[in-house]
Amino acid sequence: MERYQVIIENEEYITHVRNIAKYEIDRQFGHHDMAHFLDVARVGMILNLTEDYGIPKDILYAAALLHDVGRDIQYENGTPHDIASKEIAERILMSTSYTDEERKIILEAIASHRNKDVKDEKNLKGLLYRADKLCRPCFFCEAEPECNWKSNEKNMELIW
Ligand SMILES: [Fe+2]
Ligand SMILES: [Fe+2]
Repeated sequence: MERYQVIIENEEYITHVRNIAKYEIDRQFGHHDMAHFLDVARVGMILNLTEDYGIPKDILYAAALLHDVGRDIQYENGTPHDIASKEIAERILMSTSYTDEERKIILEAIASHRNKDVKDEKNLKGLLYRADKLCRPCFFCEAEPECNWKSNEKNMELIW
């Protein structure tokens, strides 16, 4: 069994993911759901392999599964979800067998997943940032004109 299995079975995790779905029921695009978390994990894995990041799969998957877990808190009280997700992820990771050093790397990547400055870093931070953006199919999104992403940031070209 992969080490991240414990994350998807964690009660706090499941509660947040279900809560996010309630808040996003009328949202037309950019959902923060299991499909998005897995898109990030899998696109991240493609980048990881094709660009030789050398990041262990279970570290990348933990970061991808947890990076938006605090989105419901942002909807609830405005706390930026990179901060909320890091706090929640910290608790959830305590119930896993990731080591202190691995947890630190995962939490740092979650905390910086909205920080453009890390984009080109050849580590988990840079990889998570890029995979999170690259996995959105803007080219096929009906809400694309209303989306607040800058036009040069949208994925109008299919890469992965
Ligand atoms: Fe996010
Ligand atoms: Fe995301």
